[in-house]
Amino acid sequence: MTAGKILTEAAGRLAKAGVDEPAPNAQWLLAGAMGVERLRLLAEPDLPVPPEALARFEAFLRLKEEGQPLAYILGWQDFRDIRLKVDGRVLVPRPETEELAGFAADFLRGRGGEVSALDYGAGSGAIGLWLAHEFPALKLTSLEVSPEALACARENAAELGLSSRCSFVEASTLDAVEGPFDIIVSNPPYIPTEVIPGLAPEVLSEPHVALDGGEDGLDVARMLARLAPSRLKAGGALLMELGGGQAAALLEAMSGEVWTGKRTFSDLNGIYRFLFAVKR
Ligand SMILES: C[S@@+](CC[C@H](N)C(=O)[O-])C[C@H]1O[C@@H](n2cnc3c(N)ncnc32)[C@H](O)[C@@H]1O
Repeated sequence: MTAGKILTEAAGRLAKAGVDEPAPNAQWLLAGAMGVERLRLLAEPDLPVPPEALARFEAFLRLKEEGQPLAYILGWQDFRDIRLKVDGRVLVPRPETEELAGFAADFLRGRGGEVSALDYGAGSGAIGLWLAHEFPALKLTSLEVSPEALACARENAAELGLSSRCSFVEASTLDAVEGPFDIIVSNPPYIPTEVIPGLAPEVLSEPHVALDGGEDGLDVARMLARLAPSRLKAGGALLMELGGGQAAALLEAMSGEVWTGKRTFSDLNGIYRFLFAVKR
């Protein structure tokens, strides 16, 4: 069997199972099963697929048909220019969170020198570890309520050679750390509880604690906005990813006596989901 033939059949199966973007999903899975670059499969449709790789691919395909996220099946997700191990312990980092990390970097570049960052709700460690990778003098604290997720963040830090500049805190509130930090950056759970049951099966296979933000989705975000001033340096920033409409609503409630430079940023889809404010 050749790669091209297998991919055509597999894309048909995934489409039938209701998987979005069936062809790219099939390509990533076959590349993962064969241990080759995805582009090679496209460039060489006549590439023979060895029987062991075909068996692995069949197992991958079944998981995808059952609604598993692609990143869980492959075991990794790229985040900007780092590769993270991901599995059922953590949320799969999303493209908009790569944008959030980029905004955090823009802010830190303006601070210069030895900077410190808190990644609140670290999950796989994506945001904070990428910042630590980008800024060689950055000291990172990754805080996470889920011990399983925190273990994954630790493993990623070790894999990326960043452990010596990272500390890991298992906690459910900002009270657990002292700071003061140059930036507190967070992609907290922000989906309102009542919306959760209607989410796609793929999203529902991710940890519930990574999704559920309470009645209006803002439980964790509100706590961060309230406590962050006591954990930030003067001129330090709070930067969060939220849902559309949530960022503006929360920003409105943040006092101008405490915060300056309050604004929202949009993601590449035009959704104003990023909240930014600087401590006076
Ligand atoms: C939306 S996920 C973000 C994960 C990762 N930062 C990312 O962007 O891919 C939210 C994370 O916050 C954690 N979390 C939820 N409630 C928390 C709380 N009260 N305190 C600390 N972490 C919390 C979840 O376990 C989850 O890992």
